[in-house]
Amino acid sequence: MTKTSYPPIHRVAISTGGGDAPGLNAVIRAVVLSALKRGWEVYGIRDGFNGLLLPEQYPEGGVIRLTRETVRGITHLGGTILGTSNRNSPLHYPIHLPDGTIEEVDRSDELVRAFRLHHIDALITIGGDGSLAIANVLAQKGLRLVAVPKTIDNDLNKTDVTFGFDTAVGFAVESIDRLHSTAASHGRVMVVEVMGRYAGWIALHSGVAGSADVILIPEIPYDINKVVEKVHQRDEQGSHFTIVVVAEGAKPIGGEVSVLEKQSGRAERLGGIGEKVAAEITAISGKETRVVVLGHLLRGGTPTAFDRLIALRFGAAAVRALEDGQAGVMIALEPPNVKYVPISEALGKMKTVPLDSDIVYTARDLGVIFGD
Ligand code: F6P
Repeated sequence: MTKTSYPPIHRVAISTGGGDAPGLNAVIRAVVLSALKRGWEVYGIRDGFNGLLLPEQYPEGGVIRLTRETVRGITHLGGTILGTSNRNSPLHYPIHLPDGTIEEVDRSDELVRAFRLHHIDALITIGGDGSLAIANVLAQKGLRLVAVPKTIDNDLNKTDVTFGFDTAVGFAVESIDRLHSTAASHGRVMVVEVMGRYAGWIALHSGVAGSADVILIPEIPYDINKVVEKVHQRDEQGSHFTIVVVAEGAKPIGGEVSVLEKQSGRAERLGGIGEKVAAEITAISGKETRVVVLGHLLRGGTPTAFDRLIALRFGAAAVRALEDGQAGVMIALEPPNVKYVPISEALGKMKTVPLDSDIVYTARDLGVIFGD
């Protein structure tokens, strides 16, 4: 961890990168109020780093002044008032060539210079794994920065939890609750696909809390015959409906994750596994099946009180970290406290569901099957 005596901060900037997550605005508000309290000026970069890399696209300014007024009443709002982007990474910036191909270039030096041109002394960058990788490079190139972790997927290493996850799980549970009555009324199998990328946190937590019968997660490859066995078993016991929660990154034993799209310079888009699982259940069991893909609904809406509190704590802690002379660190939750960890330690390893976690054991004790 780098703790150095830096010159005093006059101007601090904030950026939000990657997919949005409920709680981003709460972080922004906490950063702005905590920084203003220290007499610092605060600036927001538009749409990830696009405000600095593509200034011509922002006639009103790619870097905007943030005041007490601009962050009033935003703690409970989903999304981010700064905008975000999960394309145009400065490390793999896509250039569209005349022959239709795409070349990726590294624009990180240019980005560091742009911060200097705007006389920004330090950056608080809020983002997921992609944004943390960018932050790590910018920090190595001398930009004084602190990262705040964000993702609804809860798959970031070195922090107990990220804001957005609780809101996503809450919405998924409400959706599963609603699906129970219609599934029971029609005697159908209801397949609910949830986000989470290559980790099964959202599926596991919402599936257990929402009383699903089957939960399919990336960490436990499934056998569709085991899923159908469960459907039949429930029928024999007089429960003519089954609720299957499937993580978008789930895959069959010996099979691959279901990819919707591969895009240059961006993470592959996952999706489609819900439809596959449903089609196989119908083909093998003959049961009528319906699919609900919760998708981006999980990213919207007002953050829960839990997520707001995490977000506000992370934002205020990021300002304290800078004041404390920290740089190249990420704020992390280690209950009951927040702490700083080197960004490099959080990178490169995804936090997936441990198979020996008590929530997995709890699910199995309750009769939930994972298809293994
Ligand atoms: O990482 C958050 C997340 O919502 C994932 O759960 C999902 O796979 C991905 O982002 C979707 O990204 P996009 O908004 O680009 O479709």
